Order: sequence, then structure tokens, then C-alpha cells
Amino acid sequence: MSQLNKYKRYTVTSALPYANGPLHIGHLAGAYLPADIFVRHLRLKKKDVVYICGSDEHGAAITIKAKKEGTTPQAIIDKYHAQIKQSFEDFGIAFDIYHRTSSPIHHDLSQEFFLNLYEKDEFVEKLSEQYYDEDYQQFLADRYITGTCPNCHNENAYGDQCERCGTSLNPTDLINPISTLSGKTPVLKLTKHWYLPLDKYQPWLEQWIATKDGEWKTNVFGQCTSWLKSGLQPRSMTRDLDWGIDVPLEEAKGKKLYVWMDAPIGYISATKQWAIDNDKDWKLYWKKQADEQDDACLLHFIGKDNIVFHCIIFPSILHAHGEYILPQNVPANEFLNLEGDKLSTSRNHAVWLHEYLEELPGKQDELRYVLTSILPETSDSEFTWKDYQARVNNELVAIFGNFVNRVMTLMHKFYDGKIEAATEKIELHDEYLKTEIGVFYNEIEKNLEAYRYRQALQAVMSIARLGNVYLTEKEPWKTVKTDPEATKEALHNGLLIMGHLATVAQAFLPVTAKKILGMLNWPEETIAYDQEIHFNNGHQLNPASLLFEKIEDEVIEQQLQKLQAKKAAAAPAPTVTLQAAKENINYESFATMDIRTGTILAAEKVAKTKKLLKLTIDTGIDQRTVVSGIAEYYEPEAIIGQKVSILVNLEPREIKGILSQGMILMAENSEGKLSFVAPVEDFHNGSVIR
Ligand code: 2FM
Ligand code: ZN
Repeated sequence: MSQLNKYKRYTVTSALPYANGPLHIGHLAGAYLPADIFVRHLRLKKKDVVYICGSDEHGAAITIKAKKEGTTPQAIIDKYHAQIKQSFEDFGIAFDIYHRTSSPIHHDLSQEFFLNLYEKDEFVEKLSEQYYDEDYQQFLADRYITGTCPNCHNENAYGDQCERCGTSLNPTDLINPISTLSGKTPVLKLTKHWYLPLDKYQPWLEQWIATKDGEWKTNVFGQCTSWLKSGLQPRSMTRDLDWGIDVPLEEAKGKKLYVWMDAPIGYISATKQWAIDNDKDWKLYWKKQADEQDDACLLHFIGKDNIVFHCIIFPSILHAHGEYILPQNVPANEFLNLEGDKLSTSRNHAVWLHEYLEELPGKQDELRYVLTSILPETSDSEFTWKDYQARVNNELVAIFGNFVNRVMTLMHKFYDGKIEAATEKIELHDEYLKTEIGVFYNEIEKNLEAYRYRQALQAVMSIARLGNVYLTEKEPWKTVKTDPEATKEALHNGLLIMGHLATVAQAFLPVTAKKILGMLNWPEETIAYDQEIHFNNGHQLNPASLLFEKIEDEVIEQQLQKLQAKKAAAAPAPTVTLQAAKENINYESFATMDIRTGTILAAEKVAKTKKLLKLTIDTGIDQRTVVSGIAEYYEPEAIIGQKVSILVNLEPREIKGILSQGMILMAENSEGKLSFVAPVEDFHNGSVIR
């Protein structure tokens, strides 16, 4: 295995989620479940590891949500920080600390970082024109500006990105920019900002990232090289906002740090807080040590949308500062889809973690298992409820749970759950079982340390399969009458296999592993990988309990219906595409048109045409013939007596051999449907319309 094992210490981070909404399965599969499994694995190897996370509480994500809910950013972050923290706990994500970027220790450290770079003259100060909302008297964050995407003409593109075509944008790229605060066109105004000169760091970044070739996942390495290839531009580390961390400069009063400058520093400030709480030295986990060999191994677990921030921008900040270690790896995952569609918070197309546990209480390991089986490790993957059901029923229930249940029930049935051996303790002596189990341990280690969780999980299941095959071959339920010693040996070996299964399951299925340890009456809370698995003579097992239960069809149906209902409720009203406004005309031009009210006296189809009707109109002035293209919408007999508006001074012209004198005015909607236009009151024919 890789470079990983040479380190004495590990600093593992998972992306700080924005505290602006609850968590869904996509979050879990992206940056949290993989990191949690990885950290638990390191701990089982007795490595010194700190696992860091917290809420990201700044940036437009928060203020936009506050505006939407008609409340304050503070209320939003307090609400969602608590909810997110709870969900992580419920699903066993074993952070050493779950911190918050609104904490004073974080504000201080972020400002310290800014000043460190400022004093080294790293920033480039630039005046630039940025959009400003005059009604609200404030500069607009990129997300506060919408407009038409210059690439695909989506009229609802954001100032930083078009969500339809995925193009990354600057607010000034938008056609017809609109402030989402006032709904008006913003103006451009000069403002000063402090830019991180990524272009200056580019040669260094190229060298550093080149050393990761072959070590980093190809999706991550590929994104980095493509960013570098297109040439890095300086990126502003400050913003004109009223929510965030103050820029610690007198001349920058009212400005805040860019959220992507402060958020990753949140990993460090959280570690500082953890060190205070646990009497540790945070510097051992973040700072370069006197001897490079003593440096910690820094690993960032993220989703693919965060690659540039963790592989280019944050390393540049750390490099510019100079005292900090750089990430050894950034094992980003791709995205998880749901039932054939992208997960979407705004469309409410998601399986929310808190709702899942309300509806399927106690089934966190089932979800952990299914998500681990389908993690988007190298490409996007998909969660479906049917697949969830199949994996729980055919794998967890039929293989894993079944093995444990068989051993436990037979031990209780034949020996009242007590180990009675001829020796002082029982250990695994069966060479075949020992070798096989050893192979699976290696598989787990090798795959986990290459961030291949799906394969590692398969190796865990292989131990359960091995146990089932062993029991089926030994048939202890049969030999109990003919060869009681053989029964005892088979079941004792079954228990020892169970011990190994519990050991490897700890990283993946923590609740289940704990339950097995409970049934085994194991004296400790956990079993490290190198711990000997044995039972003393006379050891008493606890009663058996069922690990997993079958998921019935109704449960899946309910979940599918719920998704459908949510989707329907969130579906946007059909979009109305309006014709662009015509160029202005002067009043005189308008006044040349003589438009009157009239009544249709007679109507008939024009022969050999589909669209035309020949109408006889009482205009108040006269009775005249008008040919009108409304036959697709109106039957002739249905419109006799219809009030209309008619342009009476349009030059007569011949249409299909009929002299048409004037034009009936019709409204046309965005679907091309026509409707008569007439006064709402009963006016006499010939009334002037102006
Ligand atoms: O994309 C997000 O949800 C960000 N809040 C992730 C931040 S990760 C880190 F830098 F803190
Ligand atoms: Zn677009």
C-alpha cells in the first residue's frame, strides 16, 4: 500500500456543509461516509488521527436562505447547525469535533491568516467595477444577480454560474443583469479588493500537483491539470457583504473575507478548539515539523464541486503562509443521483437524513451499507429505493444477519449460550479459515487505503459468506446427535468468525458491529485490527437479537410515492416565453391607426384554406368583409355576435380572391393561442379605441 502508512499522525477533514439546509443522502455519500469509514479504519489500526468538520456559516448561501425564510442569517445558522450536527451523530459520523465558522476562534484565525499574507505583500490590490443595487445601497454577491446566460440564453442564470449549461460566469458576463434584492438593473460601481495571485503561484502549483500523479484519483488530478492548463487568474479574497468575517484592515471597513478563504481555515480553527478541549497540540496536526518525517498527513474529503478550492486555492493560501502542511490527498467523490434524476434541494428531490430516520428508525446502518455499495467513487452513481430494498434483503438480511443469527441461535439452543471448552480459551485453529480471513483483512486495508470503499465492503461481506459456507458444510444442527464435539467446534469457530466480522464491520456498520459485540458479550467497546480474537472457557454469551429485518414492498412504495409527491409540489409553473418588445414608436405613428369596436355578423370558412375565415363585421361606420386567420381556433357559427376590435383604416387587400377591409385584433399567448380583444363593457359598434 501507498505512501499513507509512513505517517505518524493524520488530519482528516470533511467539507464543512453550509448551514443553510438539512443533509441528504448525496451529502453523506460525497464527503462524510467515505471519510468516516476511512477514519474508523485508521483508528482500528491504532493510528493517531483527528477527524474535523463543522458548519460553514458565511457566504451568500446563508444570507439568501435567510431572505427566503424572512429571518436573519444568525437564526438560519443556529437552526441548521443544530440539525446537521444531529444528523451526523445519528448516522455515526465520528468527528472528533463538529465546529462552526461563526465562532470567535475561527474569526480570529481567519483574520490572522489574512494579515499574514497581507503583511508579506502577497495580495494584489485592485479597483474594479462591480454590480451595486442603488435601492438597497449595497454591492451584490454573485448569487444576488441573475440574468441571461451568454452561453445558452437561460434567463435565470446566476452571477457565478449558469445552472442550466454549467458555465462558470462573472456577474458582468450576464445579459440583462437583475438584482434579486430590488428586482432592478444594478449599476456598476468601483470597489477595492484584495486578490490572491493564483497566476503567480501557478508554476509552484504545477510542480506540486505533478507530484500527485498516480497518487490522486484520476477525476481529481484531471480537474486540477485542466484548471492549470487554462491558466489561473488572481481571485479576490474579499467581498462587499454584510455577513461574514471582517477584513482586518482600516481601509476595508464594511468588507468581509471571501467565504472560500475562511471556510477551509475552518478546518484549522476547529482543530485548535478540539486541542483546547482535549489538551492536545493542534500544531502537530497542521504545521510543518522540524523534521519533515514528523509532518502529519492531511486528507481532505470533499465532493467534486469543491476540487478547485481544496487543490488549488487553499493550498496556495497555505503555501503563501509558509508554516503549514499541504494536503497529501484530496479523495473527492463524484455525485450521487436519485431515481434517475439529480438530487436537488430546490426541487425537493432528495432523501433527507432526518426524514429517513423518522420513517425507518434505527436503520442507519442499512443506509450506510447501501450508500457504501454504490459510492460515486469514480463516476456519478445512483440511489434507487428498489436497489436499497434488494441490497438490504439479499445481502444484509440473507448473508450477514443470517450468519450471525445461525451461530447465536444454535449456541443458545445447544449450550445455553455458554462456551464450554476442553482448553482454557478457544481460538481459530482452522488453517483454511485463518488464511481466508487474513486475505479479506488485506483486501479491506488495500482497498480502503486506495479509497475503494465498494470493494472493501465486498471483502467484509466475504467474511460473512465464508461463515455461512462453513456452517452449511459442517451442519452442526445435524452432528449434534452423532458427533457432539464436531458441533461444538463448528459453533465455536462460528463465534470466532463472528468476532472477525464484527472487527471489520466497525468501520462500515458501527451500530451493527456494536450489536454483535454486545451479543458476544465482548469485554471492550471496540476491537482493534491487531487484537487477538478468542473466548475464555466458560464465557457466557448474551441473548441473540436480530441484526436486520426484511424491507417490505409497501415501505419502498411509500418512499417512491413520497418522492413523486414532492416533485409534483415543487414543479415550477410552466414558463411563459414572451416575445421581445418592439422598438419604440412616437405617438403620431400610433394615432394614425383607426381602431373601432365592432360585431361579427356572419362567418364562413374560406375554401381550400385551413386557417382563414371570411367575416362580415358591423363597424358602426359600415358593414364590411374581413379575412382573418382564426379558423384553427374558432368555428364560424360559434362567433356570430362576438364583439371585436377592428383596425378599420388598414389598406384593403385581396386574400384568396376576397377583398379584406381591415384587421381584427387578437391577443396571442405564449403557446400561440388566439383570443378576441373587446371592451369589457357593452359599447356600441364604432367606439374608438385609443
Ligand atoms: O460546498 C460547500 O458546501 C461548502 N460549504 C464546502 C466548504 S468546504 C471547506 F472549505 F470548508
Ligand atoms: Zn447557460
